[in-house]
Amino acid sequence: STIDWDVEAAEKSGYAHFMLKEIHEQTRSLQKTFAGKLAELEGNVRLTELKLTDEQIRNINRVEIIACGTSWNAGLFGKYLLETLAGMHTDVSAASEFRYRDPVMDENVLTIAITQSGETADTLAAIRNVVQYESSTIAITNVVGSTITREAENVVYTHAGPEIGVAATKTFTAQLIALYLLAIYMGRKRNYLLPDEAKDVIKALKELPGHVQQVLNQRDQIRKNAAQYADCRDYYFIGRGLNYPAALEAALKLKEISYIHAEGYAAGELKHGPLALLEKGTPVVAIVTKNRTYAKMLSNIKEVKARGAEVIAVADERDREIGKYADLVIFVPATNPLLSPVLSSVALQLLAYYTALEKGCEIDKPRNLAKSVTVE
Ligand code: G6P
Repeated sequence: STIDWDVEAAEKSGYAHFMLKEIHEQTRSLQKTFAGKLAELEGNVRLTELKLTDEQIRNINRVEIIACGTSWNAGLFGKYLLETLAGMHTDVSAASEFRYRDPVMDENVLTIAITQSGETADTLAAIRNVVQYESSTIAITNVVGSTITREAENVVYTHAGPEIGVAATKTFTAQLIALYLLAIYMGRKRNYLLPDEAKDVIKALKELPGHVQQVLNQRDQIRKNAAQYADCRDYYFIGRGLNYPAALEAALKLKEISYIHAEGYAAGELKHGPLALLEKGTPVVAIVTKNRTYAKMLSNIKEVKARGAEVIAVADERDREIGKYADLVIFVPATNPLLSPVLSSVALQLLAYYTALEKGCEIDKPRNLAKSVTVE
C-alpha cells in the first residue's frame, strides 16, 4: 500500500485536536501528492497510473465530476481548472442527484469521482450507474483499496495520510493537487496547454508547501480574528473564479464545526438575494487574492461595506490597496492565481477551527455528522 495507516500516525502528537494536526500536516500531504509526478523541464506531469489511451483522451467531449460534501467543492474547483488548463467542458454533480437524474452521457464522457474515503454510498452508486456507457472513469481517493478503487477504471491517489477529524482539511487540499495534476496532464495531451504555461503552474506547485507554512505561521493572528467574530449568528464567504469554490468550502468548514450559519457565494450573485440579509456587523469574508476578477471583487466589497457589514479580506501579501477597503486582512503569500485558493483555504480552515475552539465545540466530532457516509 502507498499509505501507512498505523495507530502511531493517527495520534494527535501534541495538537489539541486532530483537525489542527491535520491542518498543519498540509505542508507534507500536498508535497506527497505531487511527489514524483512533476516534469518541470518538459512542462508536463506524469500520471503513469492512468490507463487512458491518447486517442481516448483526445476524444473526450465532456467531463462529469461526481462527489459529495467537501469533495464536491473540490469538484467545482476541478471544473474551473479543467476548463482553463485543458479546455474541457466540465460539469459537477452532487452524487445524490446524479444517480437519480437522466444524465446525458456517451462513451466520450470522462467521469471523475472524487471521494476521500472511497466509501460514500451516493458516490459509489453514481459511478456504478456510469458503467453502462462504457466510458472512462477516474477515481480520486485517499484510501488504498477502498470500494471506489474497484468501481473506477483508473485511480489517482491523494497521499494525505489518515484523516481522523470529521471535517475534511488535508484531504481537500490534496484533492485540489490531484486536480491540478489531472488538468495539466489533460491539457498537455490535448495540445491545449503550452509547455511554458504548464511550467508556471508546476513551479508554483513546488513552492506551495513553503507557502502553506507561511500561512500556518499566522495562526495566532487568525485566532484573534476568529475570536472577534465567534458570537456572530451568520457568516458569509464570497469569491469569484477559483475563489468561489474556496468560499463554499470555507463556509462549509465553519458551519460543520462551529454551528454558525455560514454561506458561500459567488460574489457577483450577492445582489440577487444575500445583500438583503446583511446587517450592521455581519462578517463577510472576501477572498480577494489577485486574479482577473480583482477589480470586481473590490466593487463587491464596497457594496457589502455600504450595508454595514464587516469585511474580512483574504488577500495577497503584496496587495497594498486592500487595507483601504476591508476591516481586517488575512494575508497569504502571493503566488500563481491558479494556486492561491489553496492558501486561502488553509487560512480559512484555521479561521473555522479557532472559531469552534472559542465556542467550545467538539471539533473532531461535530454533532450529527459522520466521517464517511456509507448509507444513503
Ligand atoms: C461526509 C464528511 C465530509 C465529506 C463527505 C464526502 O459528509 O463529513 O467531510 O466531505 O462525507 O466524503 P468523501 O469520503 O466521499 O469525500
